[in-house]
Amino acid sequence: MLHGRRILLVIAGGIAAYKSLELIRRLRERGATVRCVMTAAAQRFITPLAAQTLSGDRVYSDLFSLTDENEMGHLRLSQEADLIVVAPATADLIAKLAAGLADDLASTVLIASNKPILLAPAMNTRMWANPATQSNLAVLEKRGVTRIGPESGPLAEAESGLGRMAEPTTIADAVEAHFVAYALLRGRKALVTSGPTEEAIDPVRYIANRSSGKQGHAIAAAIARLGADTVLVSGPTREADPPGVRVVHVRSAREMLSVCEAQLPVDVAVCAAAVADWRVDVAPQKLKKKGAPPTLTLVENPDILATLAHAANRRPRLVVGFAAETENLIAAARAKRAAKGADWILANDVSAASGVFGSDSNDIHLIDERGTESWGRLSKRDVGDRLAARIAQFFDRKAAE
Ligand code: C5P
Repeated sequence: MLHGRRILLVIAGGIAAYKSLELIRRLRERGATVRCVMTAAAQRFITPLAAQTLSGDRVYSDLFSLTDENEMGHLRLSQEADLIVVAPATADLIAKLAAGLADDLASTVLIASNKPILLAPAMNTRMWANPATQSNLAVLEKRGVTRIGPESGPLAEAESGLGRMAEPTTIADAVEAHFVAYALLRGRKALVTSGPTEEAIDPVRYIANRSSGKQGHAIAAAIARLGADTVLVSGPTREADPPGVRVVHVRSAREMLSVCEAQLPVDVAVCAAAVADWRVDVAPQKLKKKGAPPTLTLVENPDILATLAHAANRRPRLVVGFAAETENLIAAARAKRAAKGADWILANDVSAASGVFGSDSNDIHLIDERGTESWGRLSKRDVGDRLAARIAQFFDRKAAE
């Protein structure tokens, strides 16, 4: 059921727009309120009057209309929604969203929004298969945009193939599934560390490591998708800030620790950052290249995972760490769990042969007080989803105890 849920339905210009009228019906039957934004092209296929009659609300379409902006600016349209559904999502609107274009109300609302977005693509088979469309969708998926369909079957112009918009009931089911998932960690606060740290040698040089931050960022995104209030404390990476996550950018291990401690109390902490074990006793001025090479004196850094796990009365209910090892993986991870006081350790093999470091996939074993659970080779995004689901299950069990 969708009682109290506010859906902003963006209708783009494709023949499947006629099915969006039925989608409005299905969503309202399940208790949602539906407000519609239509592109100019959509209005060539269905009338705003039809959408207005079925939604029971006025339809917004003009970015430059003074009345539209006065009554309901493009920012408020998305702020007042819990979920934005784009149906049909045409190749054109998908491309605009991927590129960040904002030349009409629909694209501007999408760009100006930090709300979750569900796409229901509909287009001709060749447009769907076009590498441009596929790479736009891959970009959007990385940004956390979800998708339902398209399906295979008869298309307009007497053609048939992949490209049909999912049926209105299927889209309404996906909307419900979104809210079920979204409720799993709602009300929980999560802290995730990600990326490498940089430790200064002198005012211009530093020591760092090759961590990409991909796994930590994917975990933060997945936890946020389940509705947790999520803070990601990230060292310098090339990864974009995940949608729906508050990101604090730091450089050194000590900065990372102080930002993490300032976030307490949290329900769950996941330490995925590759924190430098040592920092350099920093030279106050740039080291000069003269005489014998300098000797760098290393000082041990604080262990963020261990500090959080031993945070006396502010300890997160669940503390999760990683063990990246190149040999004796499980034994080393078990020892690490005990030594650091973590509840769970995600062990992964980072030997050159595993090809995990910097790649898009990972091979994880979860070690908890009961034993080892092997997840096999998964994309880093799937590892994030699996861990987020496991965390939700943990709190669910705790609540039942
Ligand atoms: O000791 P090692 O670096 O192998 O432990 C890995 C785990 O500890 C990871 O979860 C990492 O994020 C965390 N860690 C930390 N602070 C450190 C070193 C490691 O939080 N200074």
